[in-house]
Amino acid sequence: VDLDAFITGLPKAELHLHIEGSLEPELMFALAGRNGLSLPYADVEAVRAAYAFSNLQDFLDIYYAGAAVLLTRQDFHDLAMAYFDRAVADGVVHAEIMFDPQTHTARGVPFAFVIEGLLSAMAEAQERHGITSALIMSFLRHLSEEEAFATLAEAESWLDRIAAVGLDSSEVGHPPEKFARVFAAAAAKGLKRVAHAGEEGPPAYVHAALDVLHVDRIDHGNRALEDADLVERLVGEGMTLTVCPLSNLKLCVVDTLDHHPIDRMLALGLHATVNSDDPAYFGGYVADNYRAIARARGLSRADLAQLARNSLTGSFLPADAVAAHL
Ligand code: ADE
Ligand code: ZN
Repeated sequence: VDLDAFITGLPKAELHLHIEGSLEPELMFALAGRNGLSLPYADVEAVRAAYAFSNLQDFLDIYYAGAAVLLTRQDFHDLAMAYFDRAVADGVVHAEIMFDPQTHTARGVPFAFVIEGLLSAMAEAQERHGITSALIMSFLRHLSEEEAFATLAEAESWLDRIAAVGLDSSEVGHPPEKFARVFAAAAAKGLKRVAHAGEEGPPAYVHAALDVLHVDRIDHGNRALEDADLVERLVGEGMTLTVCPLSNLKLCVVDTLDHHPIDRMLALGLHATVNSDDPAYFGGYVADNYRAIARARGLSRADLAQLARNSLTGSFLPADAVAAHL
């Protein structure tokens, strides 16, 4: 089989996907129309043309503005269904999707609309395609810990349908320590924990995600490579890194995919995975990320299969479900 078919055919989990980042410009226009909102863009091409970023904050400003078209339960349902349909075509058998409730509740959208729309799509996707999924509720790190606590309180009646809490948005200047207590509270409620760390932030933020937030996975983790002791620790703990190659390229974490460290991570024994982060903004879904990185770094089929296996073993699926996919 050719490489495209090989990549698509690998059973894989997607572990780093912001559902708001899967909002394609076509759906953005459709939802704006349905909700009687106007967009600051003439058409879909103008939206895509605006997607040129020189760093994380550039992207976040546009991404939060785009999310403003999401108002109803149906909007969140349609957003997630579009993602699941696309992910299934890429061979994704399980997806752990992040959502940013504060992006929506700050605009007056009830927390219930967000989570009920996502949960109904998750159930429909499983029924229609057999794909399983889990929710990761992410706190926006540019907001306060008090606001994160308020979000955790709003989630109280849905905690049995939320697998983990996460930490995203502007990294530098908002270290993990800021969220120590709310992560401890989430852990006490039985939630797992993930955090973006080492995307733009220094290796110290990755150490702090481990020591202070007690995370089960590191989202990105690229800059951990600057610290040999940290690498040794991540390898020793079998810590999964959810790496996002096309995101790294678009947000200038790497200058070219030819310099992407994914193969160095594997060679060091790091439990790296490949994910799409915000596929509508970064030019590709998960299989596109596998393809792009395979081409740029000359990955073997064994490397690609390892990355896919890592995604399943690094997921929050129970061991028997992981084994069934391997
Ligand atoms: N929110 C959505 N995508 C993100 C990323 N790559 N880093 C931080 N916050 C995000
Ligand atoms: Zn992310």
